[in-house]
Amino acid sequence: MKNPVLRWHNEHMQFERLLGYLGKQVEAFQDGREPDYELMGDIVFYLREYADLQHHQRENIAFEILAQRDQSYVPLIKQLLHEHRVIDTAGVVFQEQLSNILNDVLVRRELVETAAATYLLYYRAHVHTEESQILPAAERLLTDDDWKAVGNAVPSMPDPLFGAEIGLRFRAMRVKVLMDSAELLK
Ligand SMILES: [Fe+2]
Ligand SMILES: [Fe+2]
Repeated sequence: MKNPVLRWHNEHMQFERLLGYLGKQVEAFQDGREPDYELMGDIVFYLREYADLQHHQRENIAFEILAQRDQSYVPLIKQLLHEHRVIDTAGVVFQEQLSNILNDVLVRRELVETAAATYLLYYRAHVHTEESQILPAAERLLTDDDWKAVGNAVPSMPDPLFGAEIGLRFRAMRVKVLMDSAELLK
């Protein structure tokens, strides 16, 4: 696997891990247990305000090049670009619901469930499609110069969760990620 594809794949694995944490909290909510709403809010915040901003911008460039190299990818790329917009909007709605809960504003349970399910379903299916159909094609069709253009798509920002300097808001989440990693190595 070429390095840029590996980086792309690794980012997807990080997102899936965070979606896994989110999914567990959503399950607690559905079972009538008290989920960690702050963790949920932090995950969606990280995904929207950092990950999607960086990741989706780079994907937009990679998709454009891929469509030029092989037109048969155009319909799939259109669908994925549409999904970026849906994920973003679903994330806004879900964040609003979570912030209402955290601010003790009365919310309808089924609205929170729907917002959570839409966000999780779309995000997971989207990553799965990219992993199975787009990454192998990009590895075959993108040149070194293309990858440079993809890398330059957006000024890189330090990652506040997985990077060297952890943002204040994400310290608890980073501890959780590290503890889970240690658990997996046992
Ligand atoms: Fe994407
Ligand atoms: Fe992606």
